[in-house]
Amino acid sequence: MSDRSGIFAGDDPFAIARSWLAEAERTEVNDANAIALATVDADGLPNVRMVLLKDIEADAFVFYTNYESAKARELDGAGKAAFVMHWKSLRRQVRVRGLISREDGPQADDYYASRSLKSRLGAWASRQSRPLSSRAALMAEVAKVTAAKGPNPPRPPFWGGFRLVPVEIEFWADGAFRLHDRFAWRRAQPGDKWEIQRLNP
Ligand SMILES: Cc1cc2nc3c(=O)[nH]c(=O)nc-3n(C[C@H](O)[C@H](O)[C@H](O)COP(=O)(O)O)c2cc1C
Repeated sequence: MSDRSGIFAGDDPFAIARSWLAEAERTEVNDANAIALATVDADGLPNVRMVLLKDIEADAFVFYTNYESAKARELDGAGKAAFVMHWKSLRRQVRVRGLISREDGPQADDYYASRSLKSRLGAWASRQSRPLSSRAALMAEVAKVTAAKGPNPPRPPFWGGFRLVPVEIEFWADGAFRLHDRFAWRRAQPGDKWEIQRLNP
């Protein structure tokens, strides 16, 4: 039996993640849903960048990006990724590792449609992660797609979601004198029962 209680209460790690994020939405200056997304390239060299976490589902985390970006190549290539969320206002972090698949169906269409028109057109205009000759060239591309796509652009085929189904989720909260609280949820593969353990700080 573990001695979990308070902010660590409950056995569903997705419920805890949702509850911590909701609290952070009230306390963070901005982008409480920002995650540092870690990938590895074909040589095993790690890479990391921020993205926005858009959905915490019953058994997965979802974010959106350009499918021709460096991160998409690395996500598709490895089929695995990790991310961390850190909230300075709460002094807490959530670490997640797991398996990656694309979300490029109706759910991605719906999320794309929910974004501002400028963001939707920006997704069309940006060849994310590839070289750009100047800011002016990007703005010219935005003008071009604005004229071509009209007020209701479809989701670009090269833009959509990724879903991370975790095999490991760790919740960390700051404690006095570096005696932090850590609880890890681990399973060998998706669908297995979670093992929950308290970890040394
Ligand atoms: C707070 C924050 C949120 C971001 N959110 C996203 C996002 O949701 N999707 C995305 O593609 N890039 C996002 N970016 C930009 C990425 O960090 C990165 O620059 C871009 O996706 C290219 O990464 P890549 O070359 O590794 O593919 C965000 C950056 C910051 C600082």
